[in-house]
Amino acid sequence: MKSVIPVPLPDQPYEVVVATGGLDHLGTWLGGGESPLVKPGQRLLLVSNPAIFKHYGDRALASLTQAGYAVETCLLPAGERYKTLGSIQKIYDAALGFHLERKSAMVALGGGVIGDMTGFAAATWLRGVGVVQVPTSLLAMVDASIGGKTGVNHPQGKNLIGAFHQPRLVMIDPTVLKTLPAREFRAGMAEVIKYGVIWDRDLFETLEAAPRLDQCRYLGDELLHKILTRSCQAKADVVSQDEKEAGLRAILNYGHTVGHAVESLMHYRGVNHGEAVAIGMVAAGAIALRLNLWDQALADRQLALLHKTQLPTQIPAGLALDDLLRALLSDKKMEAGRLKFILPEALGQVRITDAVTDDDLRSVLTTLGATA
Ligand code: GLY
Repeated sequence: MKSVIPVPLPDQPYEVVVATGGLDHLGTWLGGGESPLVKPGQRLLLVSNPAIFKHYGDRALASLTQAGYAVETCLLPAGERYKTLGSIQKIYDAALGFHLERKSAMVALGGGVIGDMTGFAAATWLRGVGVVQVPTSLLAMVDASIGGKTGVNHPQGKNLIGAFHQPRLVMIDPTVLKTLPAREFRAGMAEVIKYGVIWDRDLFETLEAAPRLDQCRYLGDELLHKILTRSCQAKADVVSQDEKEAGLRAILNYGHTVGHAVESLMHYRGVNHGEAVAIGMVAAGAIALRLNLWDQALADRQLALLHKTQLPTQIPAGLALDDLLRALLSDKKMEAGRLKFILPEALGQVRITDAVTDDDLRSVLTTLGATA
């Protein structure tokens, strides 16, 4: 199975390829055809982490070297806490040692952390070299690898340092999800459900029709392929209409406002990003219900999908309402002192609003389990 999703950006159009076994054809996608994305013979710096590289490094290297590239590897420790300028320095050191030139490129083989860091290093090395995204987690496949947001964390906050740098190619091989831990798969599914609510009603209904969504192995190849292509298409649609988040792209933050507050109060432990987004989507759904934007039946359908995916739908025990409100007000997406919310109006349709009051938030967050 193979689908190609164009991301038609005016300055740098590219394709997202969803292909069974795509990892083994990476070199051909990159270097084949009349105008290769990176010219064969060029140097490629492949950035990964030891666990991912152990599973998939040999296949990626074989495919790239057979296509005529000279490839060097840079392995970084796994985990969000290594998403730092220190790790970027290690990529620069490898790039320097390997004589990476302007026409060379970096290849990110890994989840969102590797993708974001490699993208940022590529955006800044020699004022910009190409980057190829080869995401290995569901979350990175449907979100982080597409759209060109790259960066690292500052000790004071997530993703505060970064740049927009679109990839030359996003290569998604669904078979690599077989080694993804179930909890990480569910975290990615939160973003998939998000696309169903904000953009693609058919995707939402496809998810409703699936018997189970909590583990990759229950989906089957065809459903997994459809979920990946519809999600990537949704992201490509939004990004190609608003590359730098002047307006529309903000809808991708559905569920992220309350989600970020939960993650930050939990100090990014005990709840992962997708789980926090799931809780945030329930909160956004409940606020939309309170504001009569949508109805109980739709809110229940969203809740049912999250339950079917075994994602959390309540605020973790012990989080205090006032702390949550404070964290919400320090959200970097505040505009002119007002909190912006993405709220659903129908399946596949959301609006951006600053009309959510303190009372709305208090009521909804308390119902979801915040302690008074
Ligand atoms: N992950 C949200 C965005 O790419 O805009």
